[in-house]
Amino acid sequence: MNTRRQLELLDLHPEIENMTLEVCEGLKKQQKSLSPKYFYDERGSELFEAITRLDEYYPTRTELALFDAHLPEIAELIGAGSCVIEYGSGSSLKIRKLLDALSPLAYVPVDISRDYLLTNATVLAQDFPQLTVLPVCADFSQFIALPEQLGGMSPIGFFPGSSIGNFEPEHAKQFLGRVANTLGSGGHLLIGVDCKKDPAVLERAYNDAAGITAAFNLNALSHLNRVLGAEFQLDKFEHEALYNRDAGCIQMFLRSTAQQQVSIGGSVFAFDEGERLHTENSYKYSPDEFIRLAKDSGFGCEHHWQGADEYFGLYLLKAL
Ligand SMILES: C[S@@+](CC[C@H](N)C(=O)[O-])C[C@H]1O[C@@H](n2cnc3c(N)ncnc32)[C@H](O)[C@@H]1O
Repeated sequence: MNTRRQLELLDLHPEIENMTLEVCEGLKKQQKSLSPKYFYDERGSELFEAITRLDEYYPTRTELALFDAHLPEIAELIGAGSCVIEYGSGSSLKIRKLLDALSPLAYVPVDISRDYLLTNATVLAQDFPQLTVLPVCADFSQFIALPEQLGGMSPIGFFPGSSIGNFEPEHAKQFLGRVANTLGSGGHLLIGVDCKKDPAVLERAYNDAAGITAAFNLNALSHLNRVLGAEFQLDKFEHEALYNRDAGCIQMFLRSTAQQQVSIGGSVFAFDEGERLHTENSYKYSPDEFIRLAKDSGFGCEHHWQGADEYFGLYLLKAL
């Protein structure tokens, strides 16, 4: 007998027309750019998972080690909560530890990568039969209407993986402000944030020897070819990732290796040879910088944890 639980997906994925408009806006700019959310279709999510297992990519294992070391204390500080909302849930790996420690009634994984979200939410629901799992496919850079089933449950926010670093600082503030509103006064947000460190360590993490990050970066173009009917030629773009010391972020680009034109939804965009398409910023925050950002966004910092190498920070924030 098939005992798989059928989950009800709240599907708020952006419409194709809006995606086309947004992508074309970015390509019209002097510095052509794409939002990092376009990395993530099912293939992109799988590539990201492969990145998290690379030797060079320290953030995932460092954050997991922080969970392992401090989870009982974290759970005690959060106390009993009735539901956990995870922003950018991906493979839902890290949440398993938190679910074990908090035993909430409901879990709301929010992600833009619809098929990957549903697959992983279904497996998780199987493994946690007492838990109500309510997946939401949505762009978390916008306001998200939560599933009605949550009713009056008091939510806990979870935002691991330093995805906050993909927002420009001003947008990070707006995002955190929206989360603080959703959680309500006294609500907790547990968030993982990558720290500033030796640029050589950072650049190694985004330029792995096996070329998985390069494939992940290029996947944004395959994704747009498949979903929007764009005509990017993948063999005419090369991965580049550099640390920008002034801005305090890793910047990823796709460098055009030829003079070329790319059409999307009836518009044509010209690329010079050597011209770069900006695909991601990943801001790194010192604890002081991040705690200030959190305060400016409507949160107080109740506690923060770092490993001995000070590579990564885990912050327990409380909405004011
Ligand atoms: C860097 S990965 C982190 C995954 C996982 N939380 C972790 O810590 O390993 C970012 C995740 O957020 C999702 N994501 C990226 N941008 C998003 C957006 N604007 N709205 C919703 N989900 C997004 C991606 O699909 C991916 O699963």
